[in-house]
Amino acid sequence: MGNKETRVFVLDDEKSVQESLRMILKDKYQVFTFNCPEKALTDLSLEPDLIFTDIRMFSMSGLEFLEKVKKIKPQVEVVMITAYPDFSSSLQALRSGAFDYIVKPFGKDQVLEAAERALQRRNQVIESTRMIQDLREAIDLNYEATTRALVLAVDAKDSYTAEHSRRTSELLVRLGKRIGISHSKLITYKRAADLHDIGKIGIEESILRKKGPLTPFEFEKIKQHPLIGYQILRPTTFLEEGLDIVLYHHESYDDRGYPEGLKGKKIPFPARLFAIIDTYDAMTTERCYRSKLSPGEAIEEIMKAKGKQFDPSLVDLLVPHFLKFEKDGYLYKL
Ligand SMILES: [Fe+2]
Repeated sequence: MGNKETRVFVLDDEKSVQESLRMILKDKYQVFTFNCPEKALTDLSLEPDLIFTDIRMFSMSGLEFLEKVKKIKPQVEVVMITAYPDFSSSLQALRSGAFDYIVKPFGKDQVLEAAERALQRRNQVIESTRMIQDLREAIDLNYEATTRALVLAVDAKDSYTAEHSRRTSELLVRLGKRIGISHSKLITYKRAADLHDIGKIGIEESILRKKGPLTPFEFEKIKQHPLIGYQILRPTTFLEEGLDIVLYHHESYDDRGYPEGLKGKKIPFPARLFAIIDTYDAMTTERCYRSKLSPGEAIEEIMKAKGKQFDPSLVDLLVPHFLKFEKDGYLYKL
């Protein structure tokens, strides 16, 4: 296990202890000695693999030092050095994340064995972290491939819906970043936006492509698409709360929406947010039964619908960003 690439910090305010540990470890590892914990903390940027630290020091206790190390570099293994078998503080150190402790006076083999075992554990932890990371990436790739496959299915049925979904998901990500939605939430919201109208797969093409106004019966059919989409996607696990976008994107803040006629904040947040983006895109796109609005006109319509169709606080939050995008010409490129 020992190699000169492996970095070991030795922290002890007694020079003789530092020196004896250095002598024991130096043939196998690159050793850095410290007599003050503050300096050792600063030098964590040197990426040590293992730290031997005294449990009792003047400026900071070994336990305090251990906690700080684990906060900054959780994967560094720490072995405590104690002057006498102080069972309670050694136990506390182990509970706080120390790997082991050695008791002064220590022998060469005892130190080398402790170092070897600590480094073995570190390698195991690194390896399992890497495996988990690889697994997560594989799952994410799978989710992306599934989303793409479903988008293609929508595209085959209705290319307008597929294009509309692409634009809304792009706009959602752009706006979401600006209003501080976390990266992980935006990933699920984006997938949901890409698929929010997937339920249209279950609606007759004659209704989807009808030129001119829909009859009440046809409109009732169209109104089923959020629920159909939800039923298609519910068995998957990758949309999480994004599923709310699929089911509730046609709910209206004043309870006049569908499928459930929810009112106000009873409509889940991502759906209240997405409803604004969805409607914006629908208004700025040419359809056979009506002509499109300019981005500026659509933003005005959104403001008029504040408190009626849309959550007023979200309209206030989004409109400045819509206006900025309009000024930058981004909205015309979508
Ligand atoms: Fe829809």
